Amino acid sequence: MTTTSAPSGPSVVEQAVLDAFAPSSRRDPYRAYEVLRAAGPFVPGPLGTQLVTRYADCDAILQDPTWSHAEEPDLLHPASDVELPGSFLWMEPPDHTRLRRLVSAAFTPRRIEGMRAHAERIVDSLLGTALAAGETDLIESLAYPLPLTMVCDLLGVPADAHADVRRMSAGIARGLDPDALLSPEELAARTTAVHDFATFFGELVAQRRAHPREDLITALAQVEADGDVLSPQEMLGTLLILVVAGHETTVNLIGNGMLALLRRPDQLALLRRDPELAAPAVDEVLRFDPPVHLTTRTARAEVTVAGRTFAPGDAVIVLIGSANRDPDAFPDAAELSLTRYAARPRPNRHLAFGLGLHYCIGASLARLEMEVVLRAVAARVAAIELLVDDPPYRPNLVVRGMAELPVRLTNGDPR
Ligand code: HEM
Repeated sequence: MTTTSAPSGPSVVEQAVLDAFAPSSRRDPYRAYEVLRAAGPFVPGPLGTQLVTRYADCDAILQDPTWSHAEEPDLLHPASDVELPGSFLWMEPPDHTRLRRLVSAAFTPRRIEGMRAHAERIVDSLLGTALAAGETDLIESLAYPLPLTMVCDLLGVPADAHADVRRMSAGIARGLDPDALLSPEELAARTTAVHDFATFFGELVAQRRAHPREDLITALAQVEADGDVLSPQEMLGTLLILVVAGHETTVNLIGNGMLALLRRPDQLALLRRDPELAAPAVDEVLRFDPPVHLTTRTARAEVTVAGRTFAPGDAVIVLIGSANRDPDAFPDAAELSLTRYAARPRPNRHLAFGLGLHYCIGASLARLEMEVVLRAVAARVAAIELLVDDPPYRPNLVVRGMAELPVRLTNGDPR
């Protein structure tokens, strides 16, 4: 992904575009976003796109069905020699409506809320081990195992296969970044991961059809609306998005949230004083440092946004991470304030789960997991201390988060 630069070198704005996508900016892309927002609502981006920099325009584009998400595989993955199974994330009505409805029928709020006690048990055990160790990598000890276990248990993946699912999921998540940013090894790893995923889940679906259980795979295999069912390919695409979107994103919500608290002990103290802040705090963490930093849209018809007219086929990159820090939408946008979403009137919604047709189907599960983590941290952790100056980030651009978060935890457990 390159942008044209003047012979004298890139301008400040061109440099900010380069910075926003550079691996060296994973730690802090927000300074580059600030320059981009100041430059205007749209800034020329990579792959012939326009970057959408401001909250109001990101919000408007995500809500407007004139903008399609179906072109993203062609835009970002032209080098793909395997077909990433098409999930409804990359479809438009009527196919999107049909598949999303079938999945929603199985993915009920009751099923999700029923997982709260399970999440509490998992967090209790993981945090207990981490507190006993004192020094721990929170990504390995908490952020990875919780969502992995939750999504695998929800689907009905046996415990002895969780590690395999993690490996496949990581290879596919890395492969969601634009092909131009991936090495030949990473592209090959994506191919292998998708192939392994198809084999593993193909067998599991067949087993559940033959021997139904109380799990989501069985529910999806049995789901039926108006005589309609999921085809094998649709089932695979759906499982892939549920596993990858449902797992890799939440890992980073937990990691980013813990880092944010680590950098603001006053906010941790606030949470310890008032654990009821946990639920609104989840939304503030999602706003402040969202796990998904961008998505794309392509105009299906001529459409005007913020005074600029786009022709059919024009593509934009919606900078969720920038929108969430737009001071025109959020006062003190660069500050973490756990009470922000507890305030009345409610502030603007953040865009961390997207908006409109493709609004995240797993938002309630992700919120539940992070709320349980925050409640447990409030009850049991007195202080968190970072053990490295700058925690390393994974190279991933779209689903962004840390590779490690080495910390020392001080036990504040009254038990
Ligand atoms: C913190 C965690 C999560 C974040 C930040 C997140 C973020 C997002 C975003 C931004 C979108 C919209 C993408 C777009 O419009 O281009 C999305 C869609 C989606 N997410 Fe999530 N997600 C999270 C957790 C989950 C979980 C736990 C699941 C399921 C187990 C899930 C499943 C999905 C699915 C199926 C879609 C596609 C919806 C559609 O196209 O209609 N996500 N997510």
